[in-house]
Amino acid sequence: MLVQIPDLLTPNEVALCRATLKAADWVDGKVTAGAQSSEAKTNLQVPENSPQGRQLGDVVLRALGRNPIFTAAALPLRVFPPLFNRYDTGMGFESHVDNAIRFVTGANVRVRTDISVTVFLTDLKDYDGGELIVEDTYGEQSVRFPAGHAVLYPATSLHRVAPITRGSRWASFFWVQSMIKDDGKRRELYDLDRAITETRIALGDKHHASVALTAVYHNLIRRWSEL
Ligand code: NI
Repeated sequence: MLVQIPDLLTPNEVALCRATLKAADWVDGKVTAGAQSSEAKTNLQVPENSPQGRQLGDVVLRALGRNPIFTAAALPLRVFPPLFNRYDTGMGFESHVDNAIRFVTGANVRVRTDISVTVFLTDLKDYDGGELIVEDTYGEQSVRFPAGHAVLYPATSLHRVAPITRGSRWASFFWVQSMIKDDGKRRELYDLDRAITETRIALGDKHHASVALTAVYHNLIRRWSEL
């Protein structure tokens, strides 16, 4: 399941990210890649423990905390501290899968990567190429969203970033360990959550159907969640 989150970041937050990243140190993106994917990857990243990266990571985490689509789609247990990358003209990332477990540098915490997230930080008019292409069971899905928008996709899927043919594509990327490990179950819960929202609007919060469906939603989370 691919989920788009429009306007995760406000225009001011995007501007803050861009201004801070302009002054940041960038290193070869192979530092966070596994042995196999490092051969497929050409991009630049802000180092994991850089002060600018941590400051902007907190901006992204706060935005996630106030976003109902993120909460409903990810059902997050842990979020890896957001990282920042940049693909300049000619750079890209060939087909790969993300590592299953990530260690948070400086903290004794492991994150199982159930969901991958990209938050776009460059206006679409400022670069060409750079599509995020995700191989789904339904075929390939290609996304390229405006600055401030985010996309969630299953970390289990093969994915790539098409080469940039003009300009530079900046983004934040990170992973989420969900309370619901299984992508199919998470999708059912997301679909159910949206159907409940529609039911509440159509029939009201006190209608028996609204209450009963909400009970089913919470009981499924009780049965399926791992904390
Ligand atoms: Ni990846």
